[in-house]
Amino acid sequence: MVLLLLLLMFSSSSSSFQSVTAECPDKCTCEEEKVYCIDQELDRIPTHIPPATKKLELSHNEIRDVKSLAHLTELQSLNLNRNYIRDIESLARLTELHVLNLNNNNISEVKNGAFANLSKLQILDLSYNEIRDIESLAHLTDLEDLNLSNNNISKVKNGAFANLLELQILFLDSNKIREIEPKSFNHLTELEILNLSNNNISEVKNGAFTNLSKLWAL
Ligand SMILES: *[C@@H]1O[C@H](CO)[C@@H](O)[C@H](O)[C@H]1NC(C)=O
Ligand SMILES: *[C@@H]1O[C@H](CO)[C@@H](O)[C@H](O)[C@H]1NC(C)=O
Ligand SMILES: *[C@@H]1O[C@H](CO)[C@@H](O)[C@H](O)[C@H]1NC(C)=O
Ligand SMILES: *[C@@H]1O[C@H](CO)[C@@H](O)[C@H](O)[C@H]1NC(C)=O
Ligand SMILES: *[C@@H]1O[C@H](CO)[C@@H](O)[C@H](O)[C@H]1NC(C)=O
Ligand SMILES: *[C@@H]1O[C@H](CO)[C@@H](O)[C@H](O)[C@H]1NC(C)=O
Ligand SMILES: *[C@@H]1O[C@H](CO)[C@@H](O)[C@H](O)[C@H]1NC(C)=O
Repeated sequence: MVLLLLLLMFSSSSSSFQSVTAECPDKCTCEEEKVYCIDQELDRIPTHIPPATKKLELSHNEIRDVKSLAHLTELQSLNLNRNYIRDIESLARLTELHVLNLNNNNISEVKNGAFANLSKLQILDLSYNEIRDIESLAHLTDLEDLNLSNNNISKVKNGAFANLLELQILFLDSNKIREIEPKSFNHLTELEILNLSNNNISEVKNGAFTNLSKLWAL
């Protein structure tokens, strides 16, 4: 009986010990709900990232596949800059994200729906990728800061930014933009900075810049 009691006490204390000092993944440092695994030559997402993680830093690694991030649905801030990511479909479930940094990767395509549920996203950095088309960003209704510089965008289509009513900063510099359709920036009434430098714009249709009353840098 005493032995049984001792066993019970031991097992319950050891399990509560584990839940307090939740394991930190190999090559990472952890601090409350933040996990940092920067510049560690990681070629995959570390296993055992605590499911309650709110901030995850994985920049400067060699990660290609981000599928195993899909269960980290509490994430608010995710930094994956300087990796080799091509496919970002699995990020669609991270509905709590406020900040997403994907600069310097190998993304050429943002499929329709990839960002459909990221309605809380405020900062999105997709610069230094190979993106050709920007239609699928239209769902990001809370977005304030969008960096698409240094991509391969050739045309800004009507409606591309139609629902981005909170957008304040839009970087489109260093692309291959030739044409801007007339209503492209129509609803961006909060826009303060629009950078279109280092493109090949020969045609700006009438009315492309109407309604941009807050714009101060172009
Ligand atoms: C977006 O959320 C809806 C409702 O929660 C869900 O049915 C849908 O599968 C989600 N889409 C993606 C791409 O995850
Ligand atoms: C990925 O992008 C880098 C530049 O950011 C480039 O040097 C590399 O060749 C690309 N890799 C592939 C497989 O496209
Ligand atoms: C950019 O797009 C053009 C076609 O519009 C394509 O030929 C070229 O390979 C693309 N470059 C990159 C780096 O993706
Ligand atoms: C992208 O633009 C934002 C401002 O909108 C800036 O803070 C960030 O540094 C830029 N990213 C890169 C890689 O230059
Ligand atoms: C716009 O982008 C160019 C690089 O293409 C940069 O030199 C310039 O400082 C940017 N302007 C603003 C207002 O951010
Ligand atoms: C300016 O914005 C308003 C409201 O978003 C819209 O009804 C109007 O058509 C826009 N003006 C132009 C010239 O597109
Ligand atoms: C810029 O566009 C013109 C035609 O509008 C074309 O002749 C030229 O080759 C383009 N330059 C670059 C760097 O794409």
